[in-house]
Amino acid sequence: MDIFLITAPGLETLLAAEAREKGFKVTSTIPGGVTLRGEWPDVWRANLQLRGANRVLARIAEFRALHLSQLDSLARSHPWGDVLPRIAAVKVEATCVKSKIYHEGAAKQRVETALEAHGYQIDHDGAFNVRVRIDANVVTLSLDTSGESLHKRGYKEAVNKAPMRETMAALFLRAAGFSGKEPLYDPMCGSGTFPIEAAEIARRLDPGRARGFTFQSLADFDATSYAAMGSPPRDAMFHTYGSDRDQGAITMSRANAQRAGVADITHFEAQPLSDINPPCDPPGLVIANPPYGGRIGNIKPLYGLYASFGDRMKAGFKGWRVAIITSESSLAKATGLPFLPAGPIVDHGGIKIRLWQTAPL
Ligand SMILES: C[S@@+](CC[C@H](N)C(=O)[O-])C[C@H]1O[C@@H](n2cnc3c(N)ncnc32)[C@H](O)[C@@H]1O
Repeated sequence: MDIFLITAPGLETLLAAEAREKGFKVTSTIPGGVTLRGEWPDVWRANLQLRGANRVLARIAEFRALHLSQLDSLARSHPWGDVLPRIAAVKVEATCVKSKIYHEGAAKQRVETALEAHGYQIDHDGAFNVRVRIDANVVTLSLDTSGESLHKRGYKEAVNKAPMRETMAALFLRAAGFSGKEPLYDPMCGSGTFPIEAAEIARRLDPGRARGFTFQSLADFDATSYAAMGSPPRDAMFHTYGSDRDQGAITMSRANAQRAGVADITHFEAQPLSDINPPCDPPGLVIANPPYGGRIGNIKPLYGLYASFGDRMKAGFKGWRVAIITSESSLAKATGLPFLPAGPIVDHGGIKIRLWQTAPL
């Protein structure tokens, strides 16, 4: 079947690269996602192992429908019970693009009625989510197999203001060339997303190891073969480090690292940027998403912060690569760092952000 991985627009190529590296068969990359070809066990493994996907959808049916009556009869004849458990509350969403069936509400209602005819309860908060997409008169029925968004790894109870989603952080780490084989330092670490994500990569811990997924309640799920899918952890070659001027953020980072099982290879200190030094030898990657104007306060007061960050890097971080994620190219330029051409524009909840990175300083 086709398996669709959802990601933020701009990160598709990075997610496709991760999926290929982890042995999935990538068939296409489209705005907002990556399509794989596989079987149910690939769906389970994608949820468990892919760091960059926000959700994994399984395509359970595809047919042509030109009229609502056709959609109605084809949805009714679909063997829903092959996938959904016999008693389930289901939420349906529909989108229509360039199709004779253009009324999304009506399309949604037809599929809901079909599900009700099979004995399912329709509930906007239902545990199962069926997505109906009608594009050029072709209807695809997909099931969200993840449940809660995959950036929720299951360990992060404490979140500082403006956290980066783990899925996005993982793909920015990949874009910055981080593969777990060098030290990493985030000097504006907030609740510790980058150092914790990087420590998990260094130790090869599956991102989904501590959480549950919707697919575990689906008809075909085999708990024994799923349990055997976990990646064998490896010893981390290097540690990861975070600092922030906010003591509360550091307390959160330590608690999050503890829950993630990487407290022994992550180190967090309360420190303003003006005091930072390389936390270890040899050099590795400095990565941070400093405050950006659209999100916390305004842009103008931030030029000084970016400039002093750049000064600290140039003065004390010889041999380190530096990567920042920010919304304004003028803020990146204010660092005075020799950035390579910026990465693709990524949509971060309406804010357009990009990764700027240097070669070793
Ligand atoms: C956008 S948040 C980073 C979020 C983080 N990546 C996460 O996922 O939680 C920016 C962080 O920069 C920190 N910060 C701002 N100015 C700073 C300074 N002068 N020195 C150290 N940290 C600073 C803030 O306390 C905040 O936690």
